[in-house]
Amino acid sequence: MKLITKRLILRDVLMKDAKDVAENANDKEIGNFTTVPYPYTIKNAREFIKKKELDKKKKPRETYAFGITIKDNNIVIGIISLDDINKSNKKAEIGYWLGRKYRQQGIISEAEKAILDFGFKKLKLNKIYGKAMPKNTGSNKLYDILRTLKCAVSMMHVLISDVVLNCFQLHKPDAGCKFSSAPQMFFWISQSRFFMMLKK
Ligand SMILES: CC(C)(COP(=O)(O)OP(=O)(O)OC[C@H]1O[C@@H](n2cnc3c(N)ncnc32)[C@H](O)[C@@H]1OP(=O)(O)O)[C@@H](O)C(=O)NCCC(=O)NCCS
Repeated sequence: MKLITKRLILRDVLMKDAKDVAENANDKEIGNFTTVPYPYTIKNAREFIKKKELDKKKKPRETYAFGITIKDNNIVIGIISLDDINKSNKKAEIGYWLGRKYRQQGIISEAEKAILDFGFKKLKLNKIYGKAMPKNTGSNKLYDILRTLKCAVSMMHVLISDVVLNCFQLHKPDAGCKFSSAPQMFFWISQSRFFMMLKK
């Protein structure tokens, strides 16, 4: 499976990519802002790729992970994925990371538009959501940019393992949802805190 954009080819990640995946993923910031472990070794990369190869065989597919490559160079410099695909409620979660030396060149913006298009048009999803820590400036900016493009975005805060995360819901372009933040934000924080208190 391949998605082609102006500068990039998003493609399946293969065992031969393990060294490039390990080199680019072994970054403290990726470890801090995602569920990718840090330090990240070639063994981690091989396990990740093996899991993605098994995921590809599942029917229906619950995840699509694409290796991000620049057109004239077949090296995997990052990963962008749709995970937890739920065909019945037409939802999925987006996740991504990019090797440090390739950042701030619009690469994830470009890859994100392609994978959202794929999710909404090919997989016929209605909502794609993403979570970002409030201090993750780059990722929050990306969602902010999407708001001004095709996708309507609504935002709320969720509490996961005692960490408050910004949760962005990207709606199918024709779904007509307006950006909203504050009321939902306070509702979610207070609701999550309430449930945490009950659990204690
Ligand atoms: C977040 C991340 C994916 C951004 O990728 P990227 O390819 O650098 O993003 P882009 O170049 O497409 O940038 C999109 C916008 O965000 C801005 N931006 C990106 N990183 C930024 C940063 N660290 N600080 C401030 N602005 C930033 C860019 O300037 C751009 O804005 P502009 O169009 O107004 O210039 C990348 O920094 C990364 O992999 N971080 C670590 C892992 C991670 O946080 N994953 C996401 C978890 S939610």
